[in-house]
Amino acid sequence: MKGVILAGGTGSRLMPCTKVTNKHLLPVYDKPMIYYPLEKLIEAGIKDILIVSGPGHAGHFLNLLGSGKDFGVNLTYEVQDEAGGIAQALGLAKDFADYDPVTVILGDNIIEDSIKEHIESFTKGAKIFLKEVEDPERFGVATVEGQKVLEIEEKPKNPKSRWAVSGVYMYDNEVFDIIGSLKPSARGELEITDVNNAYIKNGSMQAAFLRGFWSDAGTFNSLLRASQLVKEKMKNEQ
Ligand code: DAU
Repeated sequence: MKGVILAGGTGSRLMPCTKVTNKHLLPVYDKPMIYYPLEKLIEAGIKDILIVSGPGHAGHFLNLLGSGKDFGVNLTYEVQDEAGGIAQALGLAKDFADYDPVTVILGDNIIEDSIKEHIESFTKGAKIFLKEVEDPERFGVATVEGQKVLEIEEKPKNPKSRWAVSGVYMYDNEVFDIIGSLKPSARGELEITDVNNAYIKNGSMQAAFLRGFWSDAGTFNSLLRASQLVKEKMKNEQ
């Protein structure tokens, strides 16, 4: 299993803080945002991790994280020329994956649960991680029947459930063929939700349910919330 952190995109919802830096370098409580997905993958035992970022600040990731030696892992970097969507960014990981399965974390996602056991038991198909939220219309929303996911809708106006699809995904190598067959959505992006729906259609999608906290950090409110959740967790652990 290899790890991929997607840290491209424009960060437009955090302007002007993202005018001269990348969203994933902004602090979440006491660390740059990207440390959280990175540490999550490291804690799960992944040794080879690719970081995909946009062209503007790619060198800053290298300055911050280097070869990965300080973290005991190997880091590789890739540039996504334009913010063409999460699935497009993941498509850039094809050579890096080299036929191995990949665990993908969106660079602005902060999750409390360990994903170690899921990684160790993953063999094929895909796996997504769901969390019940108050504001599902901000996310991909899953319709579930027991453990089974029937469908995912990207930011629906009238969500059919409160199960948000978090930004942690596990895929076998078929993901790169699926991405190759995608067409851009109405907003001009290759959507990760279309990738997930393709796995649902071919009957090889599994779902897990997050128990601990989960937040994205891509808006001012969610960035603040993520910092507060991290601070609270640190306080409880003291
Ligand atoms: O946070 C979970 C949600 O993330 C999911 O529920 C949604 O299904 C999924 O589409 C995504 O929604 P967002 O609208 O929050 O995605 P956003 O455009 O904010 O991008 C999330 C991360 O993905 C961002 O921090 C960096 C990476 N990204 C995004 C785009 C559009 C890239 O690396 N390249 C891109 O082109």
